[in-house]
Formats: sequence, C-alpha cells, structure tokens
Amino acid sequence: MEYKLESKIFEIISRAADKKNQDAYVIGGYVRDLILKRPSKDIDVVTLGSGIALAESVARELKPSPRVNVFKNFGTAQLKYRNFEVEFVGARKESYRSDSRKPIVENGTLEDDQDRRDFTINALALGLNSYNYGQLLDPFNGLKDLEDKIIRTPLDPSITFSDDPLRMMRAIRFSTQLGFEIEPKTLQAIAANRDRINIVSAERISDELNKIMAADKPSVGFKLLEETGILDIIFPELKKLKGVEVVKGIGHKDNFYHTLTVLDRIVPHTDDLWLRWSALLHDIAKPATKKFIEGQGWTFHAHNFVGVKMIPKIFRRMKLPLNEKMKYVQKMVMLHMRPIVLSEDEVTDSAVRRLLFEAGDDIDDLMTLCEADITSKNSEKVKRYMKNFQIVRRKLKEIEEKDAVRNFQPPISGELIMEKFGLAPCREVGQIKDAIKEAILDGLIRNDYNEAFAFMLKTAEDLGLDPVD
Ligand code: CTP
Repeated sequence: MEYKLESKIFEIISRAADKKNQDAYVIGGYVRDLILKRPSKDIDVVTLGSGIALAESVARELKPSPRVNVFKNFGTAQLKYRNFEVEFVGARKESYRSDSRKPIVENGTLEDDQDRRDFTINALALGLNSYNYGQLLDPFNGLKDLEDKIIRTPLDPSITFSDDPLRMMRAIRFSTQLGFEIEPKTLQAIAANRDRINIVSAERISDELNKIMAADKPSVGFKLLEETGILDIIFPELKKLKGVEVVKGIGHKDNFYHTLTVLDRIVPHTDDLWLRWSALLHDIAKPATKKFIEGQGWTFHAHNFVGVKMIPKIFRRMKLPLNEKMKYVQKMVMLHMRPIVLSEDEVTDSAVRRLLFEAGDDIDDLMTLCEADITSKNSEKVKRYMKNFQIVRRKLKEIEEKDAVRNFQPPISGELIMEKFGLAPCREVGQIKDAIKEAILDGLIRNDYNEAFAFMLKTAEDLGLDPVD
C-alpha cells in the first residue's frame, strides 16, 4: 500500500535524497497522524547517513532557501517549510535519548532506529526515495495496532522504558489523547518501572500532564497514572484525594473521582488550560482539612483557603508558571464554593454584588467551574442547584448592568478625600474609601459619584472631620 504524502516538501526531500544516493524516510508522529487523519506540524525524517548534510541539500533545493538549525551534538538539523518544522537525523543504533547531552554516534539501519522508538504506532516509516516513495515500512505491525487502537512498545517494554522513562507517561498521554488501550504487558511494565520516573525532569513531566489536561477526557489519563503508581510519585497531593473514610457508618465522597468528574465536565466549556487546572485543584486541600464532627458528619472546613496556600508549592515543584496564571488558579480555588453557598440561600443582591466584586472578569469562569462541581447523583438536588445558578447568573447580569462592580473603580478617589478634608495620607482616608466601597457592595448607595460624595460627607462627619472650603 502506498500512502499519499500531500506536502511538496516530501518531493523535495525525495529529490535531494536521490541525488545523494541516500535513503530517507518520514517516520514517527507524522506517519501515525497521517494514517489517523489528524493534523500534524512536525515532520521527522530519518536517513541512512548524515541528517545534517541531507537537511542542507534540501535547503538548497528550496527557493528561498530556509535557514538550517544544526544541533551537532545530537546529529540533527532542522528547517521550517511553510507551517512545518522538519527535522533530519541519521538512523541510530543506540538508544533514543531525547534529552541526553551525550551524543549518539553509532550509525544504524532503519530497523535499528525503529527498534529504539517508543511505541509501535510511532515507529511507522514511509519511504521517501523514488524507488519506495510512500511505501510503509512497519516491522512491528504498528498499522494493526493503529487500527486496533493499541499502545504497545516495539521491544520488551522494560527496555523501551529504561531508554527514556518519560515514555511511561507518553503511553498514558497517547492513550488519553487518542482513546487507545495500553496493551497489558506494556501497562504492567509501567507499574513495575514507575520509580524510574524520578529521573525525568519536572518540565517534561508537566508537558505530558498538560497534554493529558488538554484531551477530551483527561480523567482517563489520571486514572491510569493512579493505577500504575506514577501519580503517587509525581503528584502525591492528588493521589491523597482518593479513598473514602467511614466513621459511625457515615462516609464522604471519594474526592479523587469527584475531582476527575469535575475536570471532565468542564472540558466541553473551555479550552483554557488554567481553568482546567482550577478544576483539578479545587478540592486539593480536602484531605488536609477533613474532620468528622459528631452530629454534623464530615467537614472540610476552609479547604479553599488551605488549597490556595498549597498551590505555589505544587506549581514550583512542577515548574508550572508562578505568574498571573497561578494567581488565577488560586482565585478560582478560593472562590469555588461561593456561588453554591449563594444559591443555597435566598439570592440577595448584595451577596451577588460582593461575588462580582471579588471575581471580577473571571466571574464567568467561576460559574462554569461551579456548575461542573455539581456532581451529585441526586437528580432533584442537581435540578435545584441548576435552577438557582440560573437565578445567580441572571442577577449577576442585572447587577453588573446597574452597578458596574465587576471591575470596580472607586467613584471617589483618595486624593479627593484628602483635598476635601485637608488631610495628609492617613488612616481616615482609607476608612472613608472603604466605607464607600462597602456601602456600594451592600446596596446602600449606587456606584455613582454624587451618591458616593454625599455618603463621604456623612462618613467624615461621623469621624469628626470637617470639610475645608
Ligand atoms: N520518540 C520516542 N521516545 C520519546 C519521544 C519521541 O521514541 N521519548 C519518537 C517517536 O517515534 C515519536 C517521535 O520520536 O513519534 C517524535 O516525537 P514527538 O515529537 O515528541 O512526539 P509525536 O509522536 O510526534 O507526538 P506529539 O507531537 O503529540 O508529542
């Protein structure tokens, strides 16, 4: 069977390889995705001979000629063609080491190279020379595994995983992304070799986690990470959510599975990685705050506060950004119960106004998270929550239109207060400003200059301050 290589770049590589009398193949993810009809931007070319020299010949054939980035230590070269990143490498005999500083020197055949790849579905190659153009070279029946939706290593899995232990997470990530099963022996080997994940850098681990998070059903990946024991090593806080404790016949829900349900439920509503992280972390402090109280049952008092405090440690360890993305996740975790609590009572205007004030522009994301958080099996309860959420959403809209507290700007500035009462910066100025804000949030006055001005005069008078004329 011949596969159709659509881009013109393949013809150019073919011509250059023929001219050099050097065999070249497109291999790995590009071939897998071509067969699966998934879009792909990276093209990996493996050649019997120098990858760098072939890349340079290809660049010469292109008009205008692109820059070739050469990585001498790795024996690889890379160029851009339209939307594609094309990487060239000589076939290697020794193990594939994607992040090792040690150069790999020993040349090999195509089969040697395929042997050392991670999965059978990633070891597929298509010929690029004119004599075998578009022909599939598939020594491990990767095509069948693609059709049967199976992740399997080409060699004994413990060999493949010891070449690069990140592959254990890649197996789980591909299984999650593609909806494939991990073949039982491969899965057992992940569990058996799990400790080796310790030698992999935090950045590479987080990259895989983020790819799992970006999938349509991230729970698949997290369950596999848990079952194989990897989760305990890379993310013990999440693992601790698992399990149900029973005291006096009363159990609480399993917060691991609850969290994963929330995460899956939020997926259709957002592509934003950080909102998904917020879902993953919203109950992260439940184990740390869990208490059984006589007559009340299980409580997780202040688990949002404690969760907010846990986040920087987790993000630092995982080399996730410590900037406004993290702050956003903290804000979501902090506020995640507010709309629920709000909707349990009568939905008052001032409670809605306060929520809007605190959530600001992230209010819609917060509501999305909260709705995803309703995972009760009691359909009456769910119905009631959803109805109340509709009320909350409607009120949020009404109040924002009326009072504009979403991006609250004080209607009276500190400077104006100082000027009006002849004050230098002092505690009273802050007190007056705060009183105005509180009055607006409580609905005593509207978010309006004149009303706030009158309120300022009254507050100052109560504080014993006289206006200067
Ligand atoms: N590869 C490998 N072992 C690794 C990483 C990569 O054997 N630890 C090989 C696989 O053959 C893979 C190819 O290198 O197909 C390209 O790797 P990469 O670009 O990381 O992944 P893709 O398979 O293209 O998939 P994705 O782009 O989704 O990461």
